[in-house]
Amino acid sequence: MLDPAAHVIEKCGGPDAVAEMVGIHVSNVHRWTYPRARGGSDGRIPTRHHRALIAAAARRGITLTPDDFFHMSGADDGKGLSSPAPATYSPLPMPQDADPTRFRHRHILGIDGLTPDEIAYLLDRADGFVALSRGPRKRADLLRGRTVMNLFFEDSTRTRTSFELAGKRLGGDVINMSVATSSIQKGESLIDTALTLNAMHPDVLIVRHPHSGAVELLSQKVTCAVINGGDGSHEHPTQALLDALTIRRRKGRIGGLIVAICGDVAHSRVARSNIHLLTAMGARVRVVGPPTVVPRAIARMGVEVFHDMREGLRDCDIVMMLRLQLERMQGTYVPSLRENFHFYGLDYDKLANAKPDALIMHPGPINRGVEIDTAVADDVERSLITEQVEMGVAVRMACLEAVTANLPSADARNRS
Ligand code: ASP
Ligand code: CP
Repeated sequence: MLDPAAHVIEKCGGPDAVAEMVGIHVSNVHRWTYPRARGGSDGRIPTRHHRALIAAAARRGITLTPDDFFHMSGADDGKGLSSPAPATYSPLPMPQDADPTRFRHRHILGIDGLTPDEIAYLLDRADGFVALSRGPRKRADLLRGRTVMNLFFEDSTRTRTSFELAGKRLGGDVINMSVATSSIQKGESLIDTALTLNAMHPDVLIVRHPHSGAVELLSQKVTCAVINGGDGSHEHPTQALLDALTIRRRKGRIGGLIVAICGDVAHSRVARSNIHLLTAMGARVRVVGPPTVVPRAIARMGVEVFHDMREGLRDCDIVMMLRLQLERMQGTYVPSLRENFHFYGLDYDKLANAKPDALIMHPGPINRGVEIDTAVADDVERSLITEQVEMGVAVRMACLEAVTANLPSADARNRS
């Protein structure tokens, strides 16, 4: 009995051959044949690989057609292939097997404090949500009856929108509170605002705040779950999780990779959360930039410090660029933006020091010509910037699922 993935893998000469043809790690090929409960795709090959596989197969003299990806065991009964049953085109069913025992935290305030198993659990769940989000019906009912509130005291495009989408795709009710038009403008404090919203019985508050520690403080005053959408220069946990998911899907692993985080590390919550996560998962992390924004003391976090970008990028697998966080700077940290780009901006010349298959990441928003060259940022082969955004929705779905799984059920709460 062959499912479509096993059928295609066999036709192409085995998992190693397929991995080479698509340019992914062989463990990802094996995963196609695993059940969703084990992080697999239930015998389906993700559609984004179909075209590449057909082309690579043709180059090897193997005839692969779109029908092969929907091959049903027994469909070829000698009378020719029957047209694929419509059911094979339907989106993958969402697994119903979330395991609340693997993630017991009420809040997600940072990566610091999460175990590698908890991180892996969130990434595994997010992997399943990527498939759901790519299907035509992007809905699962895991958050039915739940209310999610976005409370952003700082600007955001990606985080706020993706939490909103994530909540809606899981069937929850999502409310975006506009700080600019709220009673905060009339002098209401952060805590009073939180208590006011808490009285409306949200299940999850997503909070971004310019001050480090403010989200944790707020979490102590409310009865719902709180997810940190970024607090000052402290942590941005869902960014690190989405970065990890992007890396794991592209490289097949995190452990053993060399990741260079370049730019304004001192003011970056993205850097801090990524350092916690990547070192916990066994990657080697380097931080690269001028001493003003990459102080030597950061080595205490278990990273290697480089002030020369070419050296810092040497043989690395991932180059993660950061924006200069001008809004958090008091005083001058770089001589000029032009000079910053000359020494620390990512262009092809500096990138040549990294491994030939090194991939480029950036949490966004990007400042072209300041920390990254336009051509590098837009390089479809090597830049993962838009893929990171896509992974952001899936990771936030996983986080919402994980924190709500430990709350009293929505039905029980509504009855009480
Ligand atoms: N968007 C990310 C953050 O909010 C990175 C940045 O703004 O540069 O931390
Ligand atoms: N990466 C990130 O957090 O982007 P936003 O600031 O647009 O949310």
